[in-house]
Amino acid sequence: MLFGLSVTGILALSVAALLCALVTRIIINRRALRCFNQPPLRNWIMGHMGLMGHNEEGLQRVDDLVCKYGHSCSWFLGPFYNMVRLFHPDYIRSLLTASASITLKDRIFYGFMKPWLGNCLLLQSGQEWSRHRRLLTPAFHFDILKKYVHIFNQSTNIMHDEWRRLLAKGEHSVDMFEQISSLTLDSLLKCTFSCDTHSQEKPRQYISAILDLSRLLVQRQHYLPYHWDWLYWRSAQGRRFQQACAVVHQFTADIVQERRTQLDQQSDPESHPENTGRYRKRKNTDLIDLLLLAKDDKGEGLTNEEIKAHADMFMFAGHDTTASALSWIFYNLAMNQDYQERCRAEVRDLLADRDTHTIGWEDLSQLTFTTMCIKESLRLHSPVLALTRYYSQNMKTPGDCVIPHGCLCLISIYGVHRNPQVWPDPLVFDPTRFDPHNSDSRSPHAFIPFSAGPRNCIGQNFAMAEMKVVVALTLARFKILPGPKPVRRLYQLVLRAEGGMILHFQELNEE
Ligand code: HEM
Repeated sequence: MLFGLSVTGILALSVAALLCALVTRIIINRRALRCFNQPPLRNWIMGHMGLMGHNEEGLQRVDDLVCKYGHSCSWFLGPFYNMVRLFHPDYIRSLLTASASITLKDRIFYGFMKPWLGNCLLLQSGQEWSRHRRLLTPAFHFDILKKYVHIFNQSTNIMHDEWRRLLAKGEHSVDMFEQISSLTLDSLLKCTFSCDTHSQEKPRQYISAILDLSRLLVQRQHYLPYHWDWLYWRSAQGRRFQQACAVVHQFTADIVQERRTQLDQQSDPESHPENTGRYRKRKNTDLIDLLLLAKDDKGEGLTNEEIKAHADMFMFAGHDTTASALSWIFYNLAMNQDYQERCRAEVRDLLADRDTHTIGWEDLSQLTFTTMCIKESLRLHSPVLALTRYYSQNMKTPGDCVIPHGCLCLISIYGVHRNPQVWPDPLVFDPTRFDPHNSDSRSPHAFIPFSAGPRNCIGQNFAMAEMKVVVALTLARFKILPGPKPVRRLYQLVLRAEGGMILHFQELNEE
């Protein structure tokens, strides 16, 4: 007995206090966002929880939301999360261009990646992020990217050899996503570490661990009880995640250590090591070398831990995104044979009179129509559909609305790219939208597959170069045709297709 109350009385009081706190919280959250349109709630407690799915129907519901509300709306995920969804260039501008010191990444989604990617650029904020971004930017300079173009050619040739083997066996269709994932992982592995999956066992284990980790991340996101660390790390899935992390970390650690030792042995740190170790001789500087040599204004570089985190991040951030982009480009060109033919004519013109079919750095700027098709596909099927952020200060939007600090903001790349106020007939694949004459009046924030502002994608030129090489070489040699079934979209970290993306292909005579 306490103050004359029985245990039951104390329990009842505690429950009532909790309920009171919950209701107060809901009221405060909803009031804070009342200047935004509010779509009908599922119910008062759950808010909009569970109203959006990640499959074809879920994405169509987002289309409806964008058509109905035009620029933004509030969204409540149960009593605890209040969110503003934004899908108009004028409404996302201030959020994307805000300084890195007030922009924060949400801990739930990005936090799950931490045990794998450590303290990498993608997950950093504030001063630390600014310093690392400055150190990493030179690694993506055009002079460096030029050296990777032959790797993109090589990896594409390997994929085409595999397609010819399949054709010889009478197989005329492939899961495009699977094929292209192997290609992008192979080229990233070569660009980052100068080693390849085809002749070596360890890189193969590394790649399979990365694929495991990506799959496990999605499974964790979709199963709410596993959002709780304590439960996740005791589950079979959590243990598999730890095992795969161990493989990835050991692989990266060995290479970084080996390179650091080589570098320390060099009298002139500017000269790049001639590799005699177990990895193939490097003709070009890879990303690991560049990170080892990076120095800030005070002459300070990155630690081995930081280099490992950034290298793992490149593999994660670069492979699935580019694979998704390329798969959807081939899908859109399969569905629009006239555009496919125009791209092929452009590529064949470029390659005419050459002994070998190789795309060089200088060729990339000549592929004007092909680039328009790549951009239109990135608009219609953007690999990353949304970014989540919160801010350490109140943020203004047009219409004198204020997003209170700490409120989750979902910047919908998907919504902006399919907003009929911005893109007439948004569901039509029309590459001429990216004809320079048609782009002049468009907001710079109407097309943001690589995000925009200070935290935009550091690898976008790398990705564009790779996509142009893969598309050009593939169209020069093969005709891509629609598969047997309609493709249904599925969003899992990046935009995929349910049950894979099956497309048919035919080999053409190389002219
Ligand atoms: C078509 C391919 C790609 C797409 C669509 C894409 C898209 C994006 C987007 C939307 C972001 C912003 C993410 C956020 O703020 O949460 C981002 C960030 C990033 N991307 Fe990419 N990406 C692609 C390829 C690559 C490649 C090839 C690399 C590296 C080799 C890369 C490395 C990164 C990194 C390191 C960041 C974090 C930048 C920062 O926070 O400062 N990406 N990417």
